[in-house]
Amino acid sequence: MPITRRAFLAASGLSAAAAALAACGSGGGASSSGTPSGQLEVFSWWTAGGEKDALNALVADFSLNNPTVRFVNRAVAGGAGTAAKAELARRLQAGSPPDTFQGQIGGALHGYVEAGQLEPVDFLYHQEGWEKTFNPQLLPMIRKGGSYYAVPVDIHHINMLWSNQKICDHLGISSSPTTIREFLDNLKTVQRSGGGIIPLATSEEWSFKHAFETLLLSVLGPDQYTALWKPGGNFGSSGVKQAISYFAELLPYCSSLDGSLTWDQATQKLGQGKACYQIMGDWAEANLKAGSLYLTPRKDYNWAPVPGTEGVFEFEADCFTLPKGAKNRDAAVAWLKECGSRRGQDDFDTVKGAIPPRASVDSTERTLYDEYQKWSLDLWRAKSTRLVGSVTHGTLVTNDWNSAIDTAVTAFLKTRQQSSFQEALAAAGKKYAFTD
Ligand code: GAL
Repeated sequence: MPITRRAFLAASGLSAAAAALAACGSGGGASSSGTPSGQLEVFSWWTAGGEKDALNALVADFSLNNPTVRFVNRAVAGGAGTAAKAELARRLQAGSPPDTFQGQIGGALHGYVEAGQLEPVDFLYHQEGWEKTFNPQLLPMIRKGGSYYAVPVDIHHINMLWSNQKICDHLGISSSPTTIREFLDNLKTVQRSGGGIIPLATSEEWSFKHAFETLLLSVLGPDQYTALWKPGGNFGSSGVKQAISYFAELLPYCSSLDGSLTWDQATQKLGQGKACYQIMGDWAEANLKAGSLYLTPRKDYNWAPVPGTEGVFEFEADCFTLPKGAKNRDAAVAWLKECGSRRGQDDFDTVKGAIPPRASVDSTERTLYDEYQKWSLDLWRAKSTRLVGSVTHGTLVTNDWNSAIDTAVTAFLKTRQQSSFQEALAAAGKKYAFTD
């Protein structure tokens, strides 16, 4: 059990006021002013399966450390936060922010900072020593104009192909195809096998966008893929055209284009043997190993990088923020401390399917994580691994840019007009690309 702030103050003989004053001197936002109490409104989109369980685990530790704060869950359902982000934008616009809200480091966070909606939290980075403990690759994506604006709670792995191993064995196809062509052939084998198994489980529009960005990564490779989302990104290239063409080939194998399934229902279908593959972030793993399925890794379900993305870790990191005008700022600061703590992160990430955002994970801590997560952790840390950000999950683009891509993907799913899709992506890039 971590030492609470109160226990620390008692042990060190410092009064809360003295500690607050000391922290204020470090610049970039003011510390909290005393023991937090009252209600804390936490905004997220974690309502499905492992997401909800992971949030509950984090809240349980928070409540142990902050017994006088009442957690109020303001989660808005909908994978990838599509509905939540719209609701949050309304609240921020109306000057009625929650005490803290889920964000994503990089582009999405950049948007909130640019709009002047967040307080810097440098005082916490100084107090907690987070510049040393958090992963150095993440820090520049949390810092704007020399100040930190959020606290990361996880690292998710995006370019993941999940599969039902038993279906693959039965049909004699690989659960880890190495090229997109092989993958498309496998999807065709599943479709032709009869029995109504869905070759590729998809859900709402964002799950198609998620799959598409991994195809872009596969075709372009990490350098060109990353450059695409910077000012001057070349959306007219033959690589982008090829990725769109693969995307079009993939669509007939997908479960639904009407958004009638949610991402977790799609994962459920894979786990139940009603679907063979799913391209999804590793929050899906949480639902396969737990939920109502309790499947065995490698035996019942398997994972592999999306074909053509071996050695690349496409990532995103969820974070929490301190909105300007938070009603219960002290409790929000206590929540941020929890999110940045080793205990809070381990409690949350082990359940969420993610890996912790800290630079070092010792051997004891490593044992808390499951087989998939150890695999993911090793890949993140390998010197040869290339790290690239996600589009769908806000690392590389702002929320506004993401919405423009949503519009383009939705139109493409209806019309299948490849050149119009490419033009719409280019127009969005031209309009929204930003410099850090
Ligand atoms: C992502 C989010 C993840 C996960 C996923 C599905 O955008 O960062 O934590 O919850 O959406 O909803």
